[in-house]
Order: sequence, then C-alpha cells, then structure tokens
Amino acid sequence: MSTNSSTTPQTDTSTLAGSLEAARKFAVPNRLAGKVALVTGASSGIGQAIAVRLAAEGARVVIGYSGNPAGANDTRAAIEQMAKESIVVQGDISKCEATKKLVEETYAKFGRCDILVNNAGLEIGADFWDVTEADYDKVLNLNLKGAFFLTQEFVKRLVATKQPGRIINISSVHEDMVFPHFDSYSASKGGLRMLMRNLSVELGPHNITCNNVAPGAIITPINKSLLNNKEQLQALLNNIPLGRLGNAGEVAGMTAYLASEEAAYITGSTFLIDGGLIRNYHEQ
Ligand code: BGC
Repeated sequence: MSTNSSTTPQTDTSTLAGSLEAARKFAVPNRLAGKVALVTGASSGIGQAIAVRLAAEGARVVIGYSGNPAGANDTRAAIEQMAKESIVVQGDISKCEATKKLVEETYAKFGRCDILVNNAGLEIGADFWDVTEADYDKVLNLNLKGAFFLTQEFVKRLVATKQPGRIINISSVHEDMVFPHFDSYSASKGGLRMLMRNLSVELGPHNITCNNVAPGAIITPINKSLLNNKEQLQALLNNIPLGRLGNAGEVAGMTAYLASEEAAYITGSTFLIDGGLIRNYHEQ
C-alpha cells in the first residue's frame, strides 16, 4: 500500500519560493482588498501557494492547518514578507469542533470571512480489496466531510448577516477521471463535485458562488511517492499533453480569479489545471 499524504510534516521550501515568485509576478494588486479568505491545508503545497497568492492580491488570510506548524509558520512568514496580514489556526477539520473553531477564530480576529478555500486533503492508495475502514474514514472525513461542514459554518454566518461569499474547492481531475487504486480519494473528489454543483443552486439566491478548481499532477507533498518513482512518473508524463507537471502557483492563479469580483457570474463549474491530462489518460 502506498500512502501519499498532504499532512506530511515536511516543508517544501522550493515550492514556497516558487509560489512567492509566482505571486509577485502574476498577482493583481488589490484585487481582493478588504476581503478575508480562509484557506485549509495552507501549510504546504497548493494551499500554501493559494494563501500567499490571495494575500498578494490584498486579502487578509487565515492559514488553516492540521499537523504541520512549521509549514504554517512559513506561509505566514512569506505573507509577512509581502507586508500583508494573516493568522494561523490549527484544527483537524475532519472533526466538526475544528470547523467551528476555524470560522469562530476568523470572525474573532477579522470580523468577517468572504472567501473559503477548501483545500486540505489526503490520498491513500491501495488495491480496492485491501482498503481498510480506518483509511477510508481518514480520506473521506478530511476531503469530503471536512469540506462539507466547514462550508456549512462559513455559509451559516453569511446567510445570517446577508453577506455574499465565495466557496472554492480544490478537488482534482479525479473528481471526474478514473484513478485506479485510489478509490476512496476518487469517491471523495467525486463527492466534492456534486456538493459544489448542489451548493451553486442552493446558495445562488444568497449571492454565494461555489466552484471547483481541479488540479492534475502538481509538484506537491501529496504526490511525493510518485515523484520519487521514476518509472511511474514517466508513465504519467507520457499522458500529459503539455509534457510536464504543474506547479502550485498555477493552481493559485485560478483560485484568486474565482475569488475576485471579476468572477461574480461564475458558479457551479469545475476549472481544470492539468496540462491536458484529463483528455489523454490511459493508465497510471
Ligand atoms: C493526485 C496525484 C496524481 C494526480 C494526477 C491528483 O489529484 O493527488 O497524486 O498524481 O492527481 O493523477
């Protein structure tokens, strides 16, 4: 069984440096001024890049993390370097107490929360017949249940105060494309796809939009074991029309756009960032 987990307590500084560089190069200054964004899994990889990018565009950012305080502090330091504001909040969102705490602490500090990025996630690979209940629960409880109830907390406050909002789920090409041996992961991402579609309808009248950003193969800690396996990596690259892996900053750019005023009329959609992988998949 292979385990790829975004909770790996390793800081990928090259990714953070790359994310900062991308934010400096591409961020639209002040596009998110006055907004507060809550990003889960913001201590590494894609979540870290998103937190940095949203801050670069003027949002005050809540850096949600579970098991990697060093990574979360790195995210905060990067944001500070740009003279922007953020706070770090710890919590395992697979538990509802943590989803409540995240939103409470956001309001306690900033008095509002306009943008929610459900990014935290993990994947555990195994043959279908070997998947344990414990591993299934880990994956579904973080990737789907966590996003579900955090979104609920986020939305409750907006509806009660008649405020608009943005929900952006970082799903995966595997919300739609098969991913053999990652059945619980694919089920969680497929679930996120339908959750997003439902919420776009249910929350539209409240001026709350909901969209998914679906990354393909991005260089992050979640696919560390793949990156270390030359043969498997080459097989994957052969399936990617653009012939390379993506980087976290490329996912962050789409997320910032969807969080912005310019995307006010977009809801209920999935945006792929995958180098064309979904159009050209044969086998892992
Ligand atoms: C997974 C990666 C995988 C990529 C492309 C992502 O959702 O997290 O492990 O390499 O999809 O298949």
